[in-house]
Amino acid sequence: MVKNITIAIDGPAGSGKSTAAKKIAEKLGFTYVDTGAMYRAITLMALRNGIVDNTEEVIKLARGIHLNLKFENGVTRVFVNDEEVTEEIRSFEVNSKVSEISVIPEVRTELVKLQRKLGERGNIVAEGRDTTTVVFPNADIKIFLTASVDERAKRRFREFHEKDNTITLEEVKQNIEKRDRIDSSRDVSPLQKAEGSLEIDNSNTEVDVEIEYLLKKIEEIRNK
Ligand code: DC
Repeated sequence: MVKNITIAIDGPAGSGKSTAAKKIAEKLGFTYVDTGAMYRAITLMALRNGIVDNTEEVIKLARGIHLNLKFENGVTRVFVNDEEVTEEIRSFEVNSKVSEISVIPEVRTELVKLQRKLGERGNIVAEGRDTTTVVFPNADIKIFLTASVDERAKRRFREFHEKDNTITLEEVKQNIEKRDRIDSSRDVSPLQKAEGSLEIDNSNTEVDVEIEYLLKKIEEIRNK
């Protein structure tokens, strides 16, 4: 019998988490739970309401917000109180504030509750830096993706370069190294490799080869 399962994917910036999560979810017809999109949505609303530097107000916002994610044709559409904010949550402003919002413990508590609720239905792929350690420590399969700093910097550089061609590869690399340091040492939900997770260094692996390998592993677990 094929079981309903939870897959959780973690890893540092540029390790290919969201690419892998989307492809696996599409292939298996699972729901993709993009946890970063949730932190982005709260940040967007805090910016719009002019309360981004007021922790108490941000907590109130997180407790009252109605968030909805719809995964369709490989794209996660994000709705806040029924308004679509899919594009807006990727803005430069949101990018620059989201890490401050995501360290507020009460905000995390609210979002973790919501993520677990989405997980209750089963057959999900949850992706984000605490999904294997905090949100779904008992996930059926936990995946920790990594790649060398140089490779991750090259990937991010290619993404950024399309929008801003003044940025250099060295700047992107320094930014990745700094984020790695902050992410692994922060007090709240630091980036860590969860016990029992399958670690994959994809520095020299094509995405399709990685996905094929992961799908094989997932099938083994589903059919156990
Ligand atoms: O994966 P992303 O770039 O969309 O994530 C946006 C931000 O939210 C990033 O600063 C990390 C943070 N985040 C987090 O703290 N916990 C998660 N589970 C997912 C994202």
